[in-house]
Formats: sequence, C-alpha cells, structure tokens
Amino acid sequence: MISRRIRSAGLGPLLAVTALAGCADPDPVIVKGTAVEHGAALFTDSTVAGGGYNSYACATCHSTARPSPGTSSALLPGAPLAGVTRRPSFWGGTEHELLRSVNHCLYYFMLADASWDGDDTDARAIYAYLDSLPSTPEDEAPAPFTVVVEIEDLPPGDASRGAKTYDRACRSCHGAAHTGEGRLVARAPALPDQTLEEHPLDQYTAEERRLVFIEKTRHGGFLGYGGQMPPFSLEVLPDPDLSDLLTFFGVDP
Ligand code: HEC
Ligand code: HEC
Repeated sequence: MISRRIRSAGLGPLLAVTALAGCADPDPVIVKGTAVEHGAALFTDSTVAGGGYNSYACATCHSTARPSPGTSSALLPGAPLAGVTRRPSFWGGTEHELLRSVNHCLYYFMLADASWDGDDTDARAIYAYLDSLPSTPEDEAPAPFTVVVEIEDLPPGDASRGAKTYDRACRSCHGAAHTGEGRLVARAPALPDQTLEEHPLDQYTAEERRLVFIEKTRHGGFLGYGGQMPPFSLEVLPDPDLSDLLTFFGVDP
C-alpha cells in the first residue's frame, strides 16, 4: 500500500517487457529536397510510423532544443533531441544504440508494424535532421530519465498550479480537462472524469483511485500497464507537480 518505497531505476525493466516488432517491407517513399528537409517534415508527421492506429508524431513527445529554464513550454515526456546523435547512451543509460532508441518509440508508442533498419529512407532522413540540429556539450550528454518503478501516494498540492501543469503535460493528448475536447487520441480518457467513472467508489477505495493516476503517469504503457501513453520521468514531472495535478483532478485523500 502506501508504505511502498519509490525506487528510481533505469529503463531495464521497461524495455525487457516486449521484443521489437518484426520486419516488413516499408512502402516506398518519394524524397524531394534534402534528407535534412525530409527528416524535418517527418518529425512532425504521424504517418511516419506506418500502420493506421497512430496519431503521434515524434514532435508530440520530443522538442528539438532544450527549453530555457523558467519558461512554461510544454512538459514533453521524451528528451529534447538536439545533440542526440552525439550522445553516448539513451533511455536513461539503458540503451546504447540510437536506431534502437528510435525503434522503441515507433514500437511502444506509435504502434508501428515494422522497425527501421539503418538503410530505411525515413530513418536516414530523421538521422540527418537530428544530426543537423545545433547543439552544446550539455545537449550531447546523456539525458536524465528516472522512472518511478514502485509508486506511492503523494501529499496534496495546489489546484491552480495543477491546471497549468495539465495544460503543459497532459492536454496535448487528453484534450481539455473534464470534456476531453480537442484530444489527439480517441482512446485517451477525459481526465479525470472518465477515469473516475471507470474506477467507481464501490469497487475502489479513494486511495486506489489516486494511485491509478499516479501509476499511469509514472508508467505510461510499461510495467504491467498496457497502451501507448509515455511514462513521465521525475525530471520531466517532479513529484510536487504531480501532487498539484492530483489536487487539480479533485482526487485528494
Ligand atoms: C509518445 C511519446 C513519444 C513519441 C511519439 C516518440 N518518442 Fe522518442 N522517446 C519517448 C520517451 C518517453 C523516451 C525515453 C526518454 C528519453 O530518453 O528521451 C524516448 C526516447 C527517444 C530517444 C532517446 C533519447 C535519449 O537521449 O535518451 C530518441 C533518439 C527518440 N526517442 C527519438 C524519437 C523519434 C525520432 C520519434 C519519432 C519517430 C520518437 N522518438 C517518437 C517518447 C516518445
Ligand atoms: C502522448 C499522449 C499522452 C500524454 C501526453 C498523456 N497521456 Fe494519459 N493516456 C494516453 C492514452 C492514449 C491513454 C489510453 C490508454 C493508453 O493507451 O495508455 C491514456 C490514459 C490515461 C489514464 C487512464 C488510466 C486508466 O487506467 O484508466 C490516465 C489517468 C492518464 N492517461 C493520465 C495522464 C496524465 C495525468 C497526463 C499528464 C501528466 C497524461 N496522461 C499525458 C495518452 C497520453
């Protein structure tokens, strides 16, 4: 119950969950312009993953440049990608190959039928684009990514700060709070209402309902939770910000 500790760990347990998708022939792609231009276009294009079920683009979860501290830009679950082609490791140190790091995103989040190999036109264009982004030594260092493996309850936070955090971290996929209006993914529930309806009080305690929000936010589609939501690391969403969200959702103890 709430006595469980937070244990921060790398992505090992997450990535061990499933093997990558098998190979299929990708559709031919007509490339116009340079590889860098093609890659820039693919970065914001959800059809890059093939298959019919994906609404995400790379840009849904990754910025290119690191946001300046103190700005209230989007809180994106994936690391900023300027400098990524020069990083020595990825996914919180659990992955050492760039192509595999991208294939994890294609497979787990974008539900791609096939993974990319190094000869794939799209993979090469994305690589050329990412490699062309100007970067500092800090951008080229491993990006921190601490996953909260064992979740525990959190103290109450501040609802108005939580509303702002919702807009920066959750709204892009879930749409407006309560209604879901403008949501990117039809399957993403209207928060918190639909999730609370699916976990009624005659079957769940108030604490268990809170833990649903905490666990889904921390684990996304990993660690026993299915689906295509990305996990939010402690760096992207520190615990006090998650407390604010829970209070905004009105699920305080
Ligand atoms: C639904 C969200 C999501 C989407 C869509 C997504 N990613 Fe990711 N990506 C993540 C998360 C979460 C991680 C793990 C945290 C991290 O290291 O950035 C990650 C990791 C990465 C990494 C390793 C970065 C590092 O330094 O550790 C690369 C490279 C990457 N993604 C590229 C891409 C590309 C290219 C696309 C589009 C084809 C893409 N991602 C689509 C969420 C996403
Ligand atoms: C990149 C898109 C994306 C983002 C960003 C995102 N979600 Fe989700 N979320 C989903 C999807 C899709 C689902 C439906 C289940 C699945 O596929 O994982 C979902 C499901 C959920 C659920 C339902 C869990 C259940 O068991 O009923 C909760 C709670 C949730 N998200 C909370 C959040 C919170 C809080 C944030 C912001 C911190 C957030 N999500 C950000 C895509 C997203």
